[in-house]
Amino acid sequence: MPEAVQTILGLETSCDETAAAVVRRWPAGRVEVLSSVIASQIAEHAPYGGVVPEIAARAHVESIDAIAARAMTDAGVGYDGLTGVAATAGPGLVGGVMVGLAFGKAVALARGLPLAAVNHLEGHALSARLAAEVPYPFLLLLVSGGHCQLIEVSGPGAHRRLGTTIDDAAGEAFDKIAKSLGLPYPGGPALERLAKSGDATRFPLPRALLGRAGFDFSFSGLKTAAARLAEAITEDAHRADLAAAVQTAIAGQLAERTDRAMAAYAREHEGRDLRLVVAGGVAANACVRAKLEDAAQTRGFSFTAPPLTYCTDNAAMIALAGAERLALGWSDPLDAPARPRWPLDAAAALANPTHVAGRKGAKA
Ligand code: KG4
Ligand code: ZN
Repeated sequence: MPEAVQTILGLETSCDETAAAVVRRWPAGRVEVLSSVIASQIAEHAPYGGVVPEIAARAHVESIDAIAARAMTDAGVGYDGLTGVAATAGPGLVGGVMVGLAFGKAVALARGLPLAAVNHLEGHALSARLAAEVPYPFLLLLVSGGHCQLIEVSGPGAHRRLGTTIDDAAGEAFDKIAKSLGLPYPGGPALERLAKSGDATRFPLPRALLGRAGFDFSFSGLKTAAARLAEAITEDAHRADLAAAVQTAIAGQLAERTDRAMAAYAREHEGRDLRLVVAGGVAANACVRAKLEDAAQTRGFSFTAPPLTYCTDNAAMIALAGAERLALGWSDPLDAPARPRWPLDAAAALANPTHVAGRKGAKA
């Protein structure tokens, strides 16, 4: 039977963005984002310096109706024009996940539509496919507030984790170091702005795992060293220098570990097209993107990063993951659970439980 056009309402509520989007996917794989609405709760969490789960869940409940209605109006298709609903079912802050998932189930039930209960990480993994043709398989660096992983992505549901962080996620390191520099939440973008006027060579910082075998990451040593240096800073200009040094160190480690993974991946995929994709909030960082692009070029990999709006949390990526699943005939029952923890590659997580993805939740 020929594949049908999918027109999917996507819902994302796993952290501090309430998001809804309508995405159309054509049988050959062409993707059109018909609408994408994101309501950030940054203002509500900023006084606390991080995401407060109870505040997040309440804010999702209060805004999900209006955000979904706006996504539907912007898309101009009407509920009769939908072929399915996709909602993030985890991992993340479970109070928030439940809001979007329950809303998705209600739409599916009321309209007789199939439901896709989507893993948030699979959404990020496919986000580059929203705006560019990126055929499977590809090597993915997923870098967000809660995750830092290298994954071989062979298709929907087909992920093999090659490496992960042994302590903090890269976004978490950005956020915590930014906090010690007195920057507002979320720290990543603020630190990037401050780093622009800095000299990255003033402060030497530890380079964890440099040259070490494997594809894991570690940022806790850098975090501690940067916090100590931040405490001792007396001149304003030196704050920018430290921000620049931190950004260079994080981007450097991401590129070095990814480079090692690319070398191994290239050996396994000899004679095939080699592709590197970066996704997740930290992929919005220009220094990170530039270093990865350089490394990819040297290794003969093509390089794709999603447009900035699809790097951080959004519902278009959830709708696309749902569309790809529903196109394969995979739908989920209306009692699909909300899951605070849900590793993409269950086999790798079982083999190495201390490295379980999502252990600390989204944007830990
Ligand atoms: O993907 P995301 O929106 O949420 C999670 O699933 O975690 O990622 C958010 C993370 C935060 O830690 C934020 O500080 C970081 O991405 N981030 C950045 C930048 N923009 C967002 N980090 C560095 N530079 C940026 N420009
Ligand atoms: Zn995310």
